[in-house]
Amino acid sequence: MTGRLIVFEGGEGSGKSTQAARIAADRNALLTRQPGGTEVGASIRELLLSTNTVGLSARAEALLMAADRAQHVEELIAPTLQSGRDVVCDRYFGSSIAYQGAGRGLGAEAVLPLSLFAVDGVLPDLVVLLDVPADIGLARSVGDVDRFEAQDLAFHETVRASFLEQADANATWVVVDATGSLEQVATAVDAALGSLS
Ligand code: TYD
Repeated sequence: MTGRLIVFEGGEGSGKSTQAARIAADRNALLTRQPGGTEVGASIRELLLSTNTVGLSARAEALLMAADRAQHVEELIAPTLQSGRDVVCDRYFGSSIAYQGAGRGLGAEAVLPLSLFAVDGVLPDLVVLLDVPADIGLARSVGDVDRFEAQDLAFHETVRASFLEQADANATWVVVDATGSLEQVATAVDAALGSLS
């Protein structure tokens, strides 16, 4: 049997990385992330997130996200699933639809085909969306601000709306209210995972 692909999505400061790590440990799954889950991806991530990257076009940004995704799926995700092990991925192509499609205004219809090409048929079994109002999420971010966190509140509100729309339209998505305590969020995430075990 192939492993399951469990994806965590959400805006800045939604706490998805914490939940992804917890669930991966619980299931002895491979924990990985986009962008940046491979050596090639780490270079792409640096370019995409660095505030020294100035003037990157929205289309180039979308293609770099897709390139990272293609490398990640072929090198790491697909072989791991084929070996029977679950994969927990912090962000997948829902983030491209939200950030590049909605946030940058390229449109989901332009961005989705790039991601479908990149993932070559490897679709999530479950997407857990950790939903938090953009202003609350941004206020939680500490330390250096990256190129996406540096976008204005309206950008992040557009991203959030896209995530919620995607969740509405796709039966594989579950929305978890991420405004609660760590324990409350963990309980809701566990319930969402229940359908998979
Ligand atoms: P991430 O490492 O999850 O950052 P954080 O934990 O601070 O939220 O993601 C890096 C950034 O990349 C994040 O701001 C969202 C952005 N991103 C996109 O714009 N498109 C994508 O397809 C992906 C995967 C991420």
